[in-house]
Amino acid sequence: MNQIAAGEVVDRPAAALKELLENSLDAGARSVSVDLSEGGVRRMRVADDGAGIEQDDLPLAVARFATSKIATIEDLERAATLGFRGEALASIGAVARLAIVSRRTDAKHAYRIACEAGEVSAVEPAALAAGTTVEVEDLYFNTPARRKFLKSEATEYARCEEAFTRIALSRPEVAFALTHNGRRSAHMPPEGARERAARLLGDDFAASAVAVDSQGARARLAGLIAAPGFTRANRDAQFLYVNGRFVRDKVAAHAIREAYADVLHHDRHPAYVLFLEIDPALVDVNVHPAKSEVRFRDSSAVHQFVFHTLSRALATPGVHQKPGTDPGFPPGGKLGSVPGFAQAGFAMAQPVAAYASMFETAVADERRAVPVAAEATQSPPLGYALAQLHGVYVLAQNAAGLVMVDMHAAHERIVYEGLKEALDATTLPSQPLLVPISVTATPEEIEQAAAGRVELETLGFDVAASGPRELLIRAVPALLADLDAPGLLRSVLREMGEFGASRVLVERRNELLSTMACHAAVRANRALTVAEMNALLRQMERTEFAGSCNHGRPTWVQFPMADLDRLFMRGR
Ligand SMILES: Nc1ncnc2c1ncn2[C@@H]1O[C@H](COP(=O)(O)OP(=O)(O)O)[C@@H](O)[C@H]1O
Ligand SMILES: [Mg+2]
Repeated sequence: MNQIAAGEVVDRPAAALKELLENSLDAGARSVSVDLSEGGVRRMRVADDGAGIEQDDLPLAVARFATSKIATIEDLERAATLGFRGEALASIGAVARLAIVSRRTDAKHAYRIACEAGEVSAVEPAALAAGTTVEVEDLYFNTPARRKFLKSEATEYARCEEAFTRIALSRPEVAFALTHNGRRSAHMPPEGARERAARLLGDDFAASAVAVDSQGARARLAGLIAAPGFTRANRDAQFLYVNGRFVRDKVAAHAIREAYADVLHHDRHPAYVLFLEIDPALVDVNVHPAKSEVRFRDSSAVHQFVFHTLSRALATPGVHQKPGTDPGFPPGGKLGSVPGFAQAGFAMAQPVAAYASMFETAVADERRAVPVAAEATQSPPLGYALAQLHGVYVLAQNAAGLVMVDMHAAHERIVYEGLKEALDATTLPSQPLLVPISVTATPEEIEQAAAGRVELETLGFDVAASGPRELLIRAVPALLADLDAPGLLRSVLREMGEFGASRVLVERRNELLSTMACHAAVRANRALTVAEMNALLRQMERTEFAGSCNHGRPTWVQFPMADLDRLFMRGR
């Protein structure tokens, strides 16, 4: 095989490792161990306990375009396994010293084949208990140009570790081990998805993550997403798999970001491990040689499916953030480390009908300010108010114990969701411009504007072509009249083209509403009556996203009785 082409397929050690790991999984391995030396360049060994390779098939395994995974052209379309082009081993063998030892379960012993710079050896008997062991030595020894592109040992190793993590995260039922230069850096038994995520992304992520699972007509999205309070300063905890394969996909990434837009501070990033299973006929995985990108036949449907699934999950009141770091209560932060000391989810996700005065229900609640203990078991999720602390927190008693509410943050969220809800129900009010604005536009933009006319109108825009390269804006969304209309229109048209729908406007509008809500919400240091506090609690229970304020901070925290008891060493 041509060494230049081979270098494209395995452009660095991590790419070779990924191919070997995928082969092991395709062979049904239950346990895979990886041994690397000097960042994988000097040596890379992947041993699995999978089905193994037949003696006669060994030469085929290292031959180009030989694959055991495709029988027909339809298979190529559906490509259910990870590998399917029969290129990886041949490519590795062209630019390294490759040796494969394998034993089928029914074979009397193992066989070995080697391939060095493309020269394939004869098949010989060898010793191996079961499965397949692939060894790659001196990567790029015969292609100095490629070797020059390698980064430091530490960098190449980090990339290998990343490739390893992506695969290990996607297959928690398989055991994995990793060593580098003789030192063990990971060892994981078969386990559940949450355990595997805890191991690789941290206990904090796993403990607070919300499980999602949504079935569409021809797709399913499942996995774990971080609660808004557990976001990151960078994108390094974002794992999306399409039909089992790790990918970077901008359609899905955009949909995920949008779903978090309301609960995330703009310089924070969500963390997630998501698996999208989609009818293989609806996705093209051969866009990229490493198959790390995909193209969806209907990207707008995928965008909507992902966006709605995550929005729904995040909207559930009580999408809990474990206080962990926040409350400095009690001194020493002892409570924060008690397991189970987290907001309990409550199964109730009714949107607010419309924004109404938060004190509306005050009278009805007045009589039952503090229920007796027996009654507390049937109390509403957030319980009944007891008192107000320093004008900042509402203390309430619920079935589980003590609830503390940040009243400003909570009210802000309620006001905000109310405003949004009221506006979502109708089309955005439009404001005609006295002097229409003409904008130069590309033919695609003009076409998009014509095709999306109705949608643009519901967003408050009135736009028409006024020449082959010109659009005329005759009306703009009233709420956003002060913003840069041509810029806004371009973003909207681009999103409509790319994702089939635009949320740019809704987002801008929400930013404004969020500011309005912040000003409208009850300020700290305002004394509330018990009735007012109860009204606030009831309103929170009815509000979507009530678990966190518009800036992603938690709005309430549960202190279970058991944890309080432990503080006072009761019941031991
Ligand atoms: N670890 C393994 N266990 C069993 N069979 C393997 C393993 N690695 C490779 N093979 C066999 O070698 C063939 C070629 O592998 P590869 O070059 O990666 O191509 P592909 O995975 O696209 O088929 C595979 O189709 C498979 O039959
Ligand atoms: Mg393969």
